[in-house]
Amino acid sequence: MGNWLLILTICAAAVQSCVAVDRGNFKTCDQNAFCKRQRATQPGNSPWEILLDSLNSTISSLQVQVISSRSQARLQLQLIALADSTLHFELDEVNPIKLRYRAQESLSGSPQLSSLKITEQSSDSISLSFGGTGKAILLVKPFRLDVYDGDQLVISVNARGLLNFEHQRVRKSKLWEAMSTVAQTVGSVGSSLPGKAYSWVLQWLPWSSEAGRNEEPSSEPAEEEMKAEAETKHPDEKPVEEEEEPGLWEETFKSHVDSKPYGPTSVGVDISFPGSRHVYGIPEHADTFALKQTKNGDPYRLYNTDVFEYELYNPMALYGAVPFMMAKRQQGTVGIFWNNAAETYVDIEESSSGSVVSSLMNLVSGGGNEPHQQTHWFSESGIIDLYIMIGPTPKDVVRQYGSLTGKTPLPQRFALGYHQCRWNYNDQEDVHSVNKGFDLHDIPYDVLWLDIEHTDNKKYFTWDPVKFPDPLEMVHNLTANGRKLVTIVDPHMKRDSSYFFHEHCEQNDFYVKDKSGKIYEGWCWPGSASYPDFFNPAVRDYWASRFALDKYEGTSLDVYTWNDMNEPSVFNGPEVTMPKDCLHYGGYEHRDVHNMYGMMVVEGTIRGQLMRSDYKLRPFVLSRSFFAGSQRFGAVWTGDNIADWEHLAIAVPMLLSLSVSGIPFCGADVGGFFNNPNTELLTRWYQAGAFQPFFRGHAHLHTKRREPWLFDEQTNKIIKASIKKRYTYLPYWYTLFYEHEKTAVPPMRPLWMEYPQDGETFSMDNQYLLGDSILVHPVVRSGEQEVSVYFPGVDTLWYEIETFRVYEAPGYQTIPVAIEKIPIFQRGGTIVPKKERARRASSLMTKDPYTFIVTLDKQGKAQGRLYIDDGQSLEYQKGSYITLELNMEGHTLSSKVTNQGAFETPESIDKIVIVGLSRAPSSIVDNTGRILEYRYDATSQALVLRKPNFSVSNEWSVNLKM
Ligand code: NOJ
Repeated sequence: MGNWLLILTICAAAVQSCVAVDRGNFKTCDQNAFCKRQRATQPGNSPWEILLDSLNSTISSLQVQVISSRSQARLQLQLIALADSTLHFELDEVNPIKLRYRAQESLSGSPQLSSLKITEQSSDSISLSFGGTGKAILLVKPFRLDVYDGDQLVISVNARGLLNFEHQRVRKSKLWEAMSTVAQTVGSVGSSLPGKAYSWVLQWLPWSSEAGRNEEPSSEPAEEEMKAEAETKHPDEKPVEEEEEPGLWEETFKSHVDSKPYGPTSVGVDISFPGSRHVYGIPEHADTFALKQTKNGDPYRLYNTDVFEYELYNPMALYGAVPFMMAKRQQGTVGIFWNNAAETYVDIEESSSGSVVSSLMNLVSGGGNEPHQQTHWFSESGIIDLYIMIGPTPKDVVRQYGSLTGKTPLPQRFALGYHQCRWNYNDQEDVHSVNKGFDLHDIPYDVLWLDIEHTDNKKYFTWDPVKFPDPLEMVHNLTANGRKLVTIVDPHMKRDSSYFFHEHCEQNDFYVKDKSGKIYEGWCWPGSASYPDFFNPAVRDYWASRFALDKYEGTSLDVYTWNDMNEPSVFNGPEVTMPKDCLHYGGYEHRDVHNMYGMMVVEGTIRGQLMRSDYKLRPFVLSRSFFAGSQRFGAVWTGDNIADWEHLAIAVPMLLSLSVSGIPFCGADVGGFFNNPNTELLTRWYQAGAFQPFFRGHAHLHTKRREPWLFDEQTNKIIKASIKKRYTYLPYWYTLFYEHEKTAVPPMRPLWMEYPQDGETFSMDNQYLLGDSILVHPVVRSGEQEVSVYFPGVDTLWYEIETFRVYEAPGYQTIPVAIEKIPIFQRGGTIVPKKERARRASSLMTKDPYTFIVTLDKQGKAQGRLYIDDGQSLEYQKGSYITLELNMEGHTLSSKVTNQGAFETPESIDKIVIVGLSRAPSSIVDNTGRILEYRYDATSQALVLRKPNFSVSNEWSVNLKM
């Protein structure tokens, strides 16, 4: 380990940027035994059949066994109808040796049940109905599930016959070894053992370590059964000699040996989407938004890893994993959620028309010879826990998925402002001067971030006593200007006996164990470190308790948190993470839970923040690692990107992919983390970032300082203007995030979410929508003078937001993009709320008046919404907020208050801009008869109504006399 560890440590801890991604650090499918085995499963000829005799049903579920005609292995299938056109498909071993892990933490609660009816049954199939229009047919031989929306076949499971469910088994050599131990210990044991003795034998097997993995088989098999089990438990598809096939019981990658005490346990099946030519989701990959075919390369991999300077346009795994996919047909959308936290792969292949499977599909769907997407999913362990959502619109699917795994609660308003980060702001003085710099240069920002160097020797929850001797004074200095501080708190704990956190974990048995049951030690920023087992509720409680203000000294309620390196990153671990045979609470292996570790860290942090404010303030945490459900706990970012144009461009598909997969509060490091951007790149990055959900500038330790005022005047001016523009749109962002919490629809969305039938938008990577009103086409290429913007919609107008120049949809238009220009457009027919007074931070805008931008459609109509609350507390969840519905029709603009809880505000509307009026009105009167002043500009066809001063809490209207 010596030299190798040294090199890795120097590279990672000291420099971290010494090489571009070292592909050799990460496995390809070929270097991964289960990936190879699953991928080798041959289509057609599936041995699995339904055992009709075992059928049971309740009002919302059906249970039946599925048997392999080859191995006689049995699986338990359960279908459960859930509310909102969702079908839950669960496949597990019948009588597993050890209970398989079920990733329940991804769910936001128990899903609501709906009714499942058997409508027809024969010896060949069982027909079912679920939800409103959902129908499903279970085919008996070979086993297959076809799911219909009405009469349209939309999803088919195991149509290609790739179901491959590897059974846990007892290694023959180990069993005989254990049995002879029994023989020696107990005296006489024959060639088989009675049930009790079998349990006893199991205790000798690898999983009966100190770590509490001595679970017994769920039933005690009879003698013959037990013998048969030892003889016949083999990979279902391949009755091979267990000991001979490599990778079944042990696998080596570089110098790392992964022992597999249960043998091969992977699960996989194919899922096809008839009629769908595009599939999206399964973040995190640095790839196109519409996912690519993987037939000729590696499958998309989902395995949370610390891949710095990641390569673009490939299926390698990154920091987070959301096994959710959306498939889009011209006329509909469906979603699937593969709820499995183990390492997972997804192969995507378009069926060639005329192929066997394609013909089969066409026969079933009765359609033409349409190509469609076929996917193949496989995970290293766990069960097949599949949620099928039948849409039919993209917004229906995100709502269906949101009701399973949760939505992002409305963040505090400050979190939507601009965040200034760097690795590292050196000391308190540095923080003061950066803070002052923003004021001096009149640039708004909300949060200053401190990276790992602020701690006392990388001991989290502490401060470097020399560089940060008085953190509270520093925090007060920030909050005096309405700003906040974020400190980094990583989950690797320095193994230092004088460190309270470490001592506590040691004393309370809180750390993850290695395969032998000893505390696992890895290498990370602090040097030797151990990792709290966040799957243990007591560990999360302890972690949460450390955020109390009297425990985390130097913090106040204005200090929030950044959880980084939570994949977890282990510099000397296999693939820079924790060995899969490490052991967690509940007796599970790290392999079972890996993709969820990061999310569990954040759950603890969020709870800590809630507890310290007595559940009054909304928490804020940024996490690098994530899983399905992480959206409930806050924001994520795309990790260590590079200051180059390609990385700026890839942020759009990466953020869209996160957004449609339930994680809407996401961003990319503005400016690029590694290397130094030139001023053009930095400028374009700020312009793009200002219109992406999480907006944070960040840079590596070894980059040049990048505060905006350090550049030439023009660059500083444009960056400042971009950040200010972000602030003017905060009321719109805030409204969108509120609406996300209600509807699950992400603020940043692909064009097809609003225009689901516009095929032109299906594989678009360079533009997106914010809500239904704003179209963004960031400039992501060097030297770009003009861009070709696609305007969606039929008979729809789009107005450029600065000049109000109007563009007609659908179609492409060339838009000039001089360096100060961000190509942003507001759709005709919408009303967007803004606040236009420049302030130092969002908290100082609380009482500022609103401006409404009304862009008329061809009928002279427009609609919009505004959400207002106190911007920080949880009172909104009790109804303390105001919502307005704005409507323009027949030359009258009116505001209707649709909710007014206990919340009061002095905010008013002091400017209304109406765009798209072909001539000036003769006068404008409000609902009280007051004549209002206005200015009309014939060139831009915009009318500006100054100082109407309506209170947001009152209903009002203005009438334009034409
Ligand atoms: C890795 C993170 O991705 C990066 O943003 C951070 O600056 C470094 N860790 C140091 O904490």
